[in-house]
Order: sequence, then structure tokens, then C-alpha cells
Amino acid sequence: MRVYRAEDYKAMSRRAASIIAAQVMQKPNCVLGLATGSTPVGAYEQLVEWYKQGDLSFKEVSSVNLDEYLGLTGDHPQSYRYFMQKNLFDHVDIDVAKTNVPSGMAEDAEAESKRYEKVMADLGGIDLQLLGMGHNGHIGFNEPASDFPIATHVVDLAESTIQANARFFDSMDEVPRQAMTMGIGSIRKAKKVLVVVSGEGKADIVYRAFCGPVTPEVPASILQLHPDVTIVGDRAALAKLEEAGVPVCD
Ligand code: GLP
Repeated sequence: MRVYRAEDYKAMSRRAASIIAAQVMQKPNCVLGLATGSTPVGAYEQLVEWYKQGDLSFKEVSSVNLDEYLGLTGDHPQSYRYFMQKNLFDHVDIDVAKTNVPSGMAEDAEAESKRYEKVMADLGGIDLQLLGMGHNGHIGFNEPASDFPIATHVVDLAESTIQANARFFDSMDEVPRQAMTMGIGSIRKAKKVLVVVSGEGKADIVYRAFCGPVTPEVPASILQLHPDVTIVGDRAALAKLEEAGVPVCD
């Protein structure tokens, strides 16, 4: 596990974007595992900027997103498909046909979960998986549980996640209660994992995830067992890791 400390959110975003850009340059037809949430937004902005400057192309890249709310169509402003279009896909030369987000509207959720697993398998797996982290340690939408769900599946969102996501919706009633997410097994199979964390509100869960026991009560703790994990965080989010003596590089 490598930990990179950035001075602030902007620097963190730039560092994360450079790791993604390096992946794309080294393997132009790579498979990127992409994430939503507020933390990766700055990294996407930076990637768009490099694309516009002519320094980066996504022409041959395929992507698979971690998750999607159930019941939201792809053109709903709070759906994760919409998020990806607005924050990245609409602004770069990626082929939209090569971008994958689970369907939140599938009538048969089980069939959709299986289809999504096959999409990942047919692509040959994920080269680099970008991850944010929920305040309760969730990754994708794998919430704290009594075991680690392996494959793509439907989840009931934790009350704290519903509350945290409410800020994006007009009213509490509109916040979806369920989502479809890649499982922990799907995430673990990624060749490389890049975790982005920002702000003091994440310091505690970052510490628990990477210094505490590996437990499905803190889903991100499974990443301790992954052979190639990079964490990029700002000072505030990494504060407790550093206090615990985990080596960090600037
Ligand atoms: C949602 C997403 C996660 C994301 C999390 C944290 O729950 N499903 O993939 O990591 O939000 O979001 P933020 O980065 O806004 O703290």
C-alpha cells in the first residue's frame, strides 16, 4: 500500500488524475473502473483539462462504473450515469459505447447483476479501479455487513448513506433506498486500486479501514489484502493514518 499526501483537495485531485493518466498512456485500451461521489470530481476535471490540452486521449479506453441507484433513469440528474456524462464522458473522446454503468431500471435486477459481471469478465478485468469511501467505510455501495458480498448485487442503502446522499436531492423522499453495486470480489479483482480521500470527516474511517482489522463491518478494510493499492489523500483525511505511524510520501 502506498500513501500519497497532498496539501489540499486540488493537489490531491491532480495527483489522482496523474495516476489515471499514466495508466491510460501506458495502456491506451485499458479498462478503468470509475467512481462517483464528490471526492473524484476534481480528478475528473483535471483529466478533462489534459484532454483539452491534447495531452491525453480516452479513445480506446473502456470503463465500468462501480454502482447505480435503483429506480433512476440514466438521464436523471442524480443518477450515476448522468454524473459520469457530466463530469467526464461528455468532455473527452471516450466512446460512450465502451462506458458501462449498471442499469438502475432493469426489471430483473438479478439478470442485470449477472450481465454486469459478464461485461467485466469479457473486458478482461479492470486495470485500475478508482474508489472513494463512504463515512462508514463503504466502497461502491458495499455497506457494512456481516460478510463481504462477492459479485454485483442489489443493496439496501444504510441510513447514514441515505442521509449523506440527501444533499443532492430536493427532498428526503426522493433519495433512493436501494442501489446496484459491484461486489467486493469484483473490486478485489482489479489489477490496481486507487483510493481518493479528502477532508477531516474521512480521517477516522481512513484510519479504521487501513489500520484496523479486516472486517465486513468496514468494507474498505478488504483493500489491506489487495497487492496494489494507492491512497491519495489530503492532509486532513490522512491525519490519523499518519499519527498511527503509517509512512506517507508527499
Ligand atoms: C457514494 C458512492 C461511493 C462514494 C461515496 C462517498 O455512496 N456510491 O462510491 O465513494 O458516495 O462520496 P463522497 O466522495 O462524496 O464522500
